[in-house]
This record gives sequence, structure tokens and C-alpha cells, in this order.
Amino acid sequence: MSFYLPEKVACNGENFKVFINKDQIEARLSLLGEQIDKDYGGLKPIFIGILNGSYIFLSDLMRNVSIPCEVDFMKLSSYGDAKVSSGNVTELKHIDAKLKNRHVILVEDIIDTGLSMKYMIERMAEYEPASVKVVTLLHKKEATKHEVQIDYVGFEIPDKFVLGYGLDYAQEGRNLAQIYVIEE
Ligand code: IMP
Ligand code: MG
Repeated sequence: MSFYLPEKVACNGENFKVFINKDQIEARLSLLGEQIDKDYGGLKPIFIGILNGSYIFLSDLMRNVSIPCEVDFMKLSSYGDAKVSSGNVTELKHIDAKLKNRHVILVEDIIDTGLSMKYMIERMAEYEPASVKVVTLLHKKEATKHEVQIDYVGFEIPDKFVLGYGLDYAQEGRNLAQIYVIEE
């Protein structure tokens, strides 16, 4: 495989530099996978990826999990093409799987204001799952305004705009194989 790993990159007129490299991501995901194996043995959890941003993280995370598990997706939109949250959550794709009595693990690329995750957790109650936990690759703790439960965090990061590894800026940059931060 040949991954897209520049030191610096321009995206939609903004400049970005490497922030969390591929080795750091791999090492962290290996630990998260081990933790999920321990916590969910015998429970066959179902991962619900929140599209689009979580798709790369989820696919790598799942390959670090060795217990039986399933996957489905929900699509939310709160940002449009801006760098700041619009404050509204729209559900663009619903979940197809039956979640009643299942152990659900919600998977996000990043928790920023917390609005999307708050929406997801409230929405989950309607499906009557046996349990709901949250895993996020990134958490902008200082930016989080809505109280949300987070069970597994990849990296706590400062309140700066990041790109790559599934995260976009106006839909571009998701194919970068590591995480970049905006240069101010
Ligand atoms: P929240 O609802 O404010 O927590 O925002 C969550 C969503 O906003 C994430 O799932 C991302 O898709 C997007 N987002 C938040 N911060 C960033 C960022 O720094 N870069 C790219 N997308 C982001
Ligand atoms: Mg997202």
C-alpha cells in the first residue's frame, strides 16, 4: 500500500502540518482494540459509525478488534462546509440494523461541541439497546459545550481545526493517512 503522507498540505486555501502521525495512530488503535476485546467478550457488540468522518477510523479500529462484532452506519450533518459547527444536526442516513437488546458502540471521528454525540445518544434510547458506549478518535475537550459520555478516546486535542484520516475541510482531505492541524 502507498499511503498519502505529506509533511505539509494545502486544502481549500488553508495550510496544514502533521499533528498525529501514522505510527501514533496505529499504536493508539491497537490499545483501543485490546480494551474493546476485554470489555465486550461474549457480547458481540455492533459498531455504529457516524458518517462521513468516522469511516477510516472505524475500519482501522475494527481490524484491531478480535472478538465477533458487527457494523452499521448513520449519517449526520452539522457542519455543512464550514470550519465551525452550524448548531443543527440533520439525520441524512438512518440505521438499518436492529439494535434492540444489542451492545452498541457509537464511533465518531471527533467530538467538538458535543452536539452530534448528544443527538446520537438521545436517538439511541429509541432503539432500546442493551448498552451504549462511545468511542471517538479525537476529543476537543475545551470546545465541548454539551455534556456527553465518552468511554474511549484516541487523543485529546486542543481546539484547533484538524484534517485527514477521514476528517475533511469542505469535503476534501479525508484521504490523508494521518492527522494534520491548521497552521495559524
Ligand atoms: P460536534 O457536533 O460539534 O461535536 O461536531 C462533530 C462533527 O464536526 C465531527 O463529527 C466532525 O465531522 C466535525 N468536526 C469537528 N471538528 C472538526 C475538525 O477540526 N476538522 C474536521 N471536522 C471537524
Ligand atoms: Mg463527523
